[in-house]
Amino acid sequence: MSNIVIISGSPSQPSRSSAISSYLENILVTEGKRVNTIHIRDLPAEDLLFANFNSSEIKKAQSLIQQAQGVIVVSPVYKASYPGVLKAFLDLIPEKGLVNKVVLPVVTGGTFSHLLSIEYAFNPVFSVLGSQEIVNGVYMVDSQVSYKEQLAFADPEIEQRLKAALNNLLNKLPREETIK
Ligand SMILES: Cc1cc2nc3c(=O)[nH]c(=O)nc-3n(C[C@H](O)[C@H](O)[C@H](O)COP(=O)(O)O)c2cc1C
Repeated sequence: MSNIVIISGSPSQPSRSSAISSYLENILVTEGKRVNTIHIRDLPAEDLLFANFNSSEIKKAQSLIQQAQGVIVVSPVYKASYPGVLKAFLDLIPEKGLVNKVVLPVVTGGTFSHLLSIEYAFNPVFSVLGSQEIVNGVYMVDSQVSYKEQLAFADPEIEQRLKAALNNLLNKLPREETIK
């Protein structure tokens, strides 16, 4: 069975995008998939800031990615791009560290104006890390998702889009079955 890693890129707590990471993880676990989530905000800040390739925490995260066939990056958009902490972590992934991995970006933003950040900011980094299979990302705005007490989708279409995106990812993995 394939391994899937979710990289949750928000530095904030609580975080809308990390609530979405947990939601995706729950769906995958319920369907019997092997999933690990890396919350960037839980990694040592100094190791990220000073690009400490020798950090045991960073090595552990790298190893989860190395063993995965599917990588889901769930992140807020910051200043029309990815948060700096997420990029600091992606910088610590070895060259071509996403070769033979299918990547799914899931991005939340305050405005639809930065919908294309998936195409012009996130995806080019996944490509340069060697992923040749980036499935269509999901972008949603804050008014479509609430997360304080519990995750809730104001727009039910979002759930359908997320499940469709998960199925697109699973379909690209070796011998995976889809979810309902
Ligand atoms: C520092 C900062 C920069 C942001 N920049 C943008 C932006 O450029 N475009 C946008 O649509 N939303 C922007 N936002 C809004 C967040 O992307 C949005 O609220 C997101 O859902 C937050 O996710 P989180 O709760 O997981 O951190 C920004 C928020 C912060 C804190």
